[in-house]
Amino acid sequence: MKTAIEGIAVFDDFFSEAFRAKLETSLYEMQYDIANCDRHDTQKYCNGEPSEDFIERVGLREELEKTPLAPYAHYEIMSTGTNVDTPGLPHYCHIHTGQFVFLYYPAKTWRHEWGGETLFYGRDGREIVYASPYTPNRCIFFEGMTSHTIRSPTTLVPFPRVTFGIFFQKKHGFFEKLELP
Ligand SMILES: [Fe+2]
Repeated sequence: MKTAIEGIAVFDDFFSEAFRAKLETSLYEMQYDIANCDRHDTQKYCNGEPSEDFIERVGLREELEKTPLAPYAHYEIMSTGTNVDTPGLPHYCHIHTGQFVFLYYPAKTWRHEWGGETLFYGRDGREIVYASPYTPNRCIFFEGMTSHTIRSPTTLVPFPRVTFGIFFQKKHGFFEKLELP
């Protein structure tokens, strides 16, 4: 684990290169819909929700077992989401109540001048306490109550900014404090 600030853990070189490539390709081949952006119905964006079939087909749970987040490999997955961001697309601060969020950057390469950072706010929601550059093969595991948003990628980026999210939920009750293995 490279970085951990309250409620946010960051893991680099998370999956094997073979699985990163497989997941990236599978996300590109998936079906996408036009959906509301961060619950704002006036802003639409491209959203994909990998199904349990998808998770099984790519072998996600088996791959999670090989990572520091192995104890979560067989947790109940509330939902999954894939964001596809292009230059100029805004996002809005939001939370995921009672869930733990697994955020993953599947692209093979990324350059700083392409932007697209994920921004996290502190508990009072006033200051940005952590900004993660889009870092290939990085996983950020965080408490869903941590307010966050995305800085749009710049016009220099030659392909969409794709992220893969898993939203874990307990069968009974809610996640509150980050419980790392
Ligand atoms: Fe989110």
